[in-house]
Amino acid sequence: MISVCFVCLGNICRSPTAELVFSKMVEEEGLSHSFEIFSRGTSDCEEGNPIYPPARATLEKHGVSGAHRAAQLTLRDVINVDYLIVMDSSNLMDVLALTAGRFGEKIYKLMSFANAPRDVADPWYTRDFERAYADICEGCRAFLDYLKEEKKEALAYDGRH
Ligand code: 4NP
Repeated sequence: MISVCFVCLGNICRSPTAELVFSKMVEEEGLSHSFEIFSRGTSDCEEGNPIYPPARATLEKHGVSGAHRAAQLTLRDVINVDYLIVMDSSNLMDVLALTAGRFGEKIYKLMSFANAPRDVADPWYTRDFERAYADICEGCRAFLDYLKEEKKEALAYDGRH
């Protein structure tokens, strides 16, 4: 079992999008039983809120859906997960502040797995939810390909594959 927590600031746009996109990819590859996947925000500013409507609309347009309520990342989450996947450099600094610089070995920026490492375009400021969705799809695909190579022994494919 590989546990993955996607992290952004508010946990209403980017990280729940990554959680749902990555969960769908994993499901389509018959790998659901090998993963625990969730998302959190570094801030509690949106605690309890659903996915931000424009982000939800973009997901639905691409056939992705799922239940979500925003929750803040805790030190316990960081300790318990295998991979903590942040959306941008600001999230990385916030997580390292929470952990006092520890656990850096399990913290990655999502787009560090892509061909061109960068921050996920933040739709809160760009208002470009399609671009954020495209970044997140590219990053999630590259992250899953990385795990299939690096963590082969931890993955069990279900009977259909
Ligand atoms: P997220 O988007 O971090 O992708 O969920 C944001 C949500 C709320 C705020 C900023 C970004 N905010 O400033 O309240």
